[in-house]
This record gives sequence, structure tokens and C-alpha cells, in this order.
Amino acid sequence: MKNTTYAQDLKPPLKWAGGKRWLVPHLRPIWEPYSHRRLVEPLCGGLAVTLALMPEKALLNDINTHLINFFRWVQKGLYIDIPLENNEEFYYSHREHFNTLIEEGEKYSKEAAELFYYLNRTGYNGLCRFNQKDKFNVPFGRYKKINYIRDYEQYREVFKRWEFSCSDFEELTLNNDDFIYADPPYDVEFTTYSKGGFDWNNQVRLVKWLSKHPGPVVLSNQATERIVKLYQDYGFKVDCLDAPRMISCTGDRTPAKEVLAKKGL
Ligand SMILES: C[S@@+](CC[C@H](N)C(=O)[O-])C[C@H]1O[C@@H](n2cnc3c(N)ncnc32)[C@H](O)[C@@H]1O
Repeated sequence: MKNTTYAQDLKPPLKWAGGKRWLVPHLRPIWEPYSHRRLVEPLCGGLAVTLALMPEKALLNDINTHLINFFRWVQKGLYIDIPLENNEEFYYSHREHFNTLIEEGEKYSKEAAELFYYLNRTGYNGLCRFNQKDKFNVPFGRYKKINYIRDYEQYREVFKRWEFSCSDFEELTLNNDDFIYADPPYDVEFTTYSKGGFDWNNQVRLVKWLSKHPGPVVLSNQATERIVKLYQDYGFKVDCLDAPRMISCTGDRTPAKEVLAKKGL
């Protein structure tokens, strides 16, 4: 059965910062001539793009161990058994239990995957944040209604053809003809270093690594001046698009700009 059977049905199961579902109409025509190739997402996040493109073969990597643990359990055929309630007291008790599992070396367990799903959907904005003692510390989300998914059978059918990996992007082993879509955390200008974040050195390291790939590469990012220059300096063809988010802090309603950079296509 072809993966495309599910194309309309499968939404990303998690809420994840920086999801690029809105970019899919731009990415699909670039991907389609290469759809027989393996799709590699070295910073795959919540899979908004991969679940829309539905490749036959994929290598999906992210440095977040809880995220990849959840996807690996889905790949094995996950049915969530724990109670799922959109209730504040319940949320904090599940959060404490999740932190205990991590402390006890059980972060790759099925229960940790189930709790991660619950905390992601019930916590504030789908954030994944840890304090200095490595405790998950996202507050309760106060959503009116949450449609929890317990049964991942449909996802298992699709995920079984895909490989999940959890490492820094530079550790991936690529094939020369892989099609790469790389979507790093946004470049936030004037921030030179943020602990655990994706700083400027990482932005440079990523484009250097991608520029060595002989096959097709597509990159997206926030269109800051230095990102546009960096991608052009490494031989990418750069297009700018209007992103759906607005810059709200200044009160001006100008759409933010997104970069779509291409090479080897
Ligand atoms: C903007 S998100 C990707 C969103 C995804 N394209 C989507 O549409 O759902 C960027 C991801 O990069 C991951 N990341 C950050 N540093 C990384 C690194 N050094 N290697 C691999 N992944 C990394 C983060 O955990 C995050 O999930």
C-alpha cells in the first residue's frame, strides 16, 4: 500500500514550535520530481512537513530525545493506556511522574512516551522546556478542549517505512542522492548565544554541512539579513516569502519574511 493513501488523514500528533505545514504548498512542487528519493529531515521537529509530503523512504532526525522516543513508540504501534484528562491537578501529577521516570533512567519507556504526548498536548503551547535541574517545567495549558489521540495504528503503517534518529545533524550518514529538507530553529538576530538553543555558530555549521551534500537541498529560515547573506555565500539560490505570522511586538502588521533556499535542484 502506498503511503499517499493516508496523505489527507494524518495530522502531526504533537504541537511543535516552528511547524512548517504552511510551507508545504511551496515545498511540494520542489519535492515531487524527487519523490522516489529518500527524504532526509535532519531537524524534523513535529513532522508537519514529512506527514504532508508522505515520502516512501525517509530519515527523520532530531536532537530532542523525548520527541524521537515518542515517534519510535508510534512506529512500533502505540496505544496510549494512561488516563488523559485536561485538568490542572492531573497535569501536574503526570508532569511529576514524567520527571521521576527520567530521573530513574526510564526516559525511553512506553510510559515516558505516553506522558510526553499528554504533557505536549495539555501543557502551555506545546512547549518542551526543562529547568537547570533537567526537570520538565512547562505549566498547564488551559485549553478549552483537547482531542487526544490514543490509537496510532494509522501512523504505524506510515512510520514503518521511515527511519528515526536522535543525534546532532552532523552525525547523520547520508546517501549522495538523498533529498534534504532542513528547517533549523529561527535565526534570532542580536542573540549571539542562548544556552541549549541554536546559536549563530550552529546556523553556520548547518549551512556548511548542507553545502557539501551533492544531492538536492532545501532550507527554510527566518529571512534575517545575515541568513540571506550566509545562504547566498554558500551557493544557495534564495527566495523570500511572506510568512503567516505577524510581527506583533512593534504593533506593525507587516508579514514576517521567510527564506526558502535551494541547491542542487
Ligand atoms: C523549527 S523545528 C523543525 C520543525 C519541522 N520542520 C516541522 O515542520 O514540524 C527545529 C528542530 O530542530 C531541532 N534541533 C535543534 N538543534 C539541533 C541539532 N543540533 N541537531 C538536530 N536537531 C536539532 C529542535 O529540537 C527542533 O525540533
